Amino acid sequence: MEIIIQPDPASASALAARVIVRLLRAKPDAVLGLATGSTPLLLYRELIRLHAAGEADFSRVRTFNLDEYIGLAPEHPQSYHSFMWQNLFGHINIDPRNVRIPDGQAADVPAFCAQYEEQIRAAGGIDIQVLGIGTDGHVGFNEPSSSLASRTRIKTLTVQTRRDNARYFGSEDQVPQHVITMGVGTVMDARQCLLLAFGSAKAPAIAAAVEGPITAMNPASILQMHPTAKVLLDEPAAASLKRADYYRWVYASKPDWQRL
Ligand code: F6R
Repeated sequence: MEIIIQPDPASASALAARVIVRLLRAKPDAVLGLATGSTPLLLYRELIRLHAAGEADFSRVRTFNLDEYIGLAPEHPQSYHSFMWQNLFGHINIDPRNVRIPDGQAADVPAFCAQYEEQIRAAGGIDIQVLGIGTDGHVGFNEPSSSLASRTRIKTLTVQTRRDNARYFGSEDQVPQHVITMGVGTVMDARQCLLLAFGSAKAPAIAAAVEGPITAMNPASILQMHPTAKVLLDEPAAASLKRADYYRWVYASKPDWQRL
């Protein structure tokens, strides 16, 4: 794991955007795995800015989103379809035919999930997977106890996640109980993972994921087994890391060719 601690979310997000833009220059038809929620908002804003500045072309990019709430129509304001079009896709030159987001209204959820996995495979796999982390250590909506080998499937949200996400819905009761999410195994198949985490509420989950044991009780901890996972943090999210000074020193000491 490469742990990169930045002074604030904007500088961490700018680094993540640079990694993505570098990939798009090398591979214009790259496959991006995307997350929703508050964490990637600045990253998406930066990608939009780079696109407007002529530095990022999404015309051939293909995308797969991590997850979607079951029961929400794509046009529901809190659906992850709405989120993605509002916060990224609506502002870049992506071809809508290249966008995949789990269908929260799928009539046959297991069949849909198998097809989603097949579509990822047919696209050649995910080049970069953008991830946030839940306060309970979830990635995608793989809640604690998720199989670390899981594939795209239905999951039931924890009380803690529904409480965390109530801010978008008005109340906890309105947060759907079920979701479709890529599995932990699906995430781990991505050629590169970029996990972003900001704010002190994420500090315990980050400390457990980065410095704790690999355990299904903190699904993000499996990223310790990923060959190219980068964890981009602001200072408050890094506050409980015992070896923060070491990670800072490693990053500051990188040879030029390795710099982001
Ligand atoms: C969203 C997702 C979730 C979020 C996580 C953090 O697509 O997969 O794992 O990344 O719940 O959410 P925020 O960023 O809102 O704190």
